[in-house]
Amino acid sequence: MMTSGMVQAAYLIAALLFIFSLAGLAKQETAQSGNWFGIIGMAIALIATIVNPDTAGLPGIIIAIGIGGIIGVMLAKRVEMTQMPELVAILHSFVGLAAVLVGYNSYLHHGELSGVLLTIHLVEIALGIFIGAVTFTGSLVAFGKLRGSISSSALMLPHRHKLNLAAAIVTILLMIWFVKAEGSTFALLLITIIALVFGWHLVASIGGADMPVVVSMLNSYSGWAAAAAGFLLANDLLIVTGALVGSSGAILSYIMCKAMNRSFISVIAGGFGQDAQSGGTAIEGEHREISTEDLADQLLSAKNVIITPGYGMAVAQAQYPVSEITSKLRAKGINVRFGIHPVAGRLPGHMNVLLAEAKVPYDIVLEMDEINEDFAETDIVLVIGANDTVNPAATEDPSSPIAGMPVLEVWNAKNVVVFKRSMNTGYAGVQNPLFFKENSFMLFGDAKDSVDALSKLI
Ligand code: TAP
Repeated sequence: MMTSGMVQAAYLIAALLFIFSLAGLAKQETAQSGNWFGIIGMAIALIATIVNPDTAGLPGIIIAIGIGGIIGVMLAKRVEMTQMPELVAILHSFVGLAAVLVGYNSYLHHGELSGVLLTIHLVEIALGIFIGAVTFTGSLVAFGKLRGSISSSALMLPHRHKLNLAAAIVTILLMIWFVKAEGSTFALLLITIIALVFGWHLVASIGGADMPVVVSMLNSYSGWAAAAAGFLLANDLLIVTGALVGSSGAILSYIMCKAMNRSFISVIAGGFGQDAQSGGTAIEGEHREISTEDLADQLLSAKNVIITPGYGMAVAQAQYPVSEITSKLRAKGINVRFGIHPVAGRLPGHMNVLLAEAKVPYDIVLEMDEINEDFAETDIVLVIGANDTVNPAATEDPSSPIAGMPVLEVWNAKNVVVFKRSMNTGYAGVQNPLFFKENSFMLFGDAKDSVDALSKLI
């Protein structure tokens, strides 16, 4: 059996490993070792918690880990890469729910505390339950929206900002009451109910185009919920881990906001992106199609090619043939590079993961800012299953719901070929004038089938 000093030492090592893990995950080349640091850190944390002399009910814990582990492995085996954002959202909801349960548990067993210590403890309980409940329902709504079982358009309740503000004020008053009364079950229940509704409303009122920010924001909330649970359980490792997730999620949200040209404050307040399913100038025009044979000829006579992948490449699992045509073209001396939009796909870094999986060399995979200037000198751009991230309406149409969002300016190239199945809109539900531009051609069909067919010709 470990002493509590040994447990604290193990927690410290695990916390350091989590920091190394985050540092490793920041770069593709070191991501794998970053993952291992995280796995080893989590294993140390779990073992130290189980053998901790303060841990009661060991058989129950082991049974719970067993059942949870089996469900986790089964789900992880079944989940497709394109379903990862949903999985992440539902996992965040579990963190939120756990924080609520830990909060109630601490409230029911708050022991002999008195004076300032009792006040601090009650504040921790109220805050922990509030953050946990917001995370819980917010993540459930995000899960439904990402899965498509709830409409991704924004819920527009009348006076929604005032409703949010009123909820925040009432919650603060209830928290003061809860602390002053040295604990009140009624106040705590009211705080929980308001937080559940608030979390649901916060995410429901955000439109489809802004979901990337919501996903990373909930990631951050789940971290703070875990940190709050850490305070309640007096578990330093949970506090450190929660703070790491909370702050890295907040930084990611900030990066996402910048990528989408949204203000961070309006995300926190909720309610933006409400016009995502409407607005924008109606587009009229004819689109042109290109055959695989003509495209192959054009590619073989090109000098510079850029590929901009999007969600459709992930759905079709077209990254493998895309990697194949990349190697073939590069072997013929053609300069092929990739342009990655920060919110392409459904998950931060989604495209980078897919391309790395298909062994596309890292040095030809560039971020939007690194490549946007180069489209003008590019002979041909292959837009593979991307839509919103290459939509010129963002820069040309101020009435568009995605106006102001930086996009990959593919239309500046000599020719653009768009691989998709139909003229349908992308995730934001916004029409794309790119398809009607003079230099743009459609190649209809499943992206994997089209790229496979192309690969046979080059
Ligand atoms: P989207 O705008 O989602 O468009 C994807 C396109 O792929 C669709 O228009 C679809 O057209 C096509 N497609 C679907 N399945 C296909 C298949 N099997 N073969 C060929 N094409 C297929 O893609 P994007 O440019 O990557 O933009 C991402 C969007 O998701 C943004 O609006 C972003 O805000 C949002 N979002 C991003 C995240 C993160 S963190 N990245 C999270 C949540 C939401 P067809 O139906 O005509 O084939």
